[in-house]
Amino acid sequence: MGNEYVLKLSSLFKSYGNNDVLCGLNLTLNRGECVGVVGKNGTGKTTLLKIISDLLRHYYGYVDLRGNSVASLIDTPIFINDFTGRDNIEYMLDKQFRDRAIEIIKNMNMTNYLDKPVGKYSQGMRQKLAIAIVFATDPDIILLDEPFNSIDIDSSEYVIKLINEFKSKNKGIIVVTHNVTKIESYCDRILTLKNGVLNQFEKTLTDVQQYRFSFLSEQDAIMAQIELGEYTLDKESAKTLLVTFDSGNLPTIIKRLVHCNVTDVKEINLEITLNKCGDKDA
Ligand SMILES: Nc1ncnc2c1ncn2[C@@H]1O[C@H](COP(=O)(O)OP(=O)(O)O)[C@@H](O)[C@H]1O
Ligand SMILES: [Mg+2]
Repeated sequence: MGNEYVLKLSSLFKSYGNNDVLCGLNLTLNRGECVGVVGKNGTGKTTLLKIISDLLRHYYGYVDLRGNSVASLIDTPIFINDFTGRDNIEYMLDKQFRDRAIEIIKNMNMTNYLDKPVGKYSQGMRQKLAIAIVFATDPDIILLDEPFNSIDIDSSEYVIKLINEFKSKNKGIIVVTHNVTKIESYCDRILTLKNGVLNQFEKTLTDVQQYRFSFLSEQDAIMAQIELGEYTLDKESAKTLLVTFDSGNLPTIIKRLVHCNVTDVKEINLEITLNKCGDKDA
């Protein structure tokens, strides 16, 4: 039973007009396995998950689900905005799954919002609600499209825990992400989607840099910590944060801080430059 698979994709081809997106893609997802799919914007990651979830019909190839159920988080989650989080859960889930969804919400520190209308939720809160709903139904296969987008570090850690628990029940999971920071802590295999096919992920020799951000207030440091949740962060003191990211990303990070009104950064110092491959590679 060990090698039994939960999902097999054979020779998937998908085009939108003249735009060939998937070009003979194959993938076997085994029981107890989490496959990570990384790839640049527009390479077809969402298209792939939509095909598996039966949200896209016009493609060529074969999707063998072996009768397994699938739950997925794809694109921006759609909820009824006038309903509270709890009402949405009741609307979307059968009775036996609701308590589990609420428990997951509570573990992501969102209890206070459970009885507020979803229209008042931030992007991250909507994402958390969607994650709770997907995991609560306990399907055979879960598909997650950028699950860590807009959620804070503690919740990201919790989502990783949910993924690992799910895998340990001999189920299968595919996580699409552009964030490879902690990918090894939950993926058994990492594949890249490029030119319409999946390949083994080779870590490139890009540099990773660590910067020390000193803020004027503790409040700003907290705001920055929340905003930059997808990066590797270390809180050095109440007002300083060590942030690790691929070199060249500093402008993006500054823009994001400005966007959340953290404009009074006292100092930004480059601490270290690391090689992403660690010391094993030549
Ligand atoms: N509904 C659609 N109609 C036409 N083109 C689409 C549609 N959805 C996606 N595409 C195109 O297909 C390519 C792959 O998109 P997508 O699967 O969303 O990639 P990713 O999730 O990797 O960013 C892109 O070039 C995108 O513009
Ligand atoms: Mg996408």
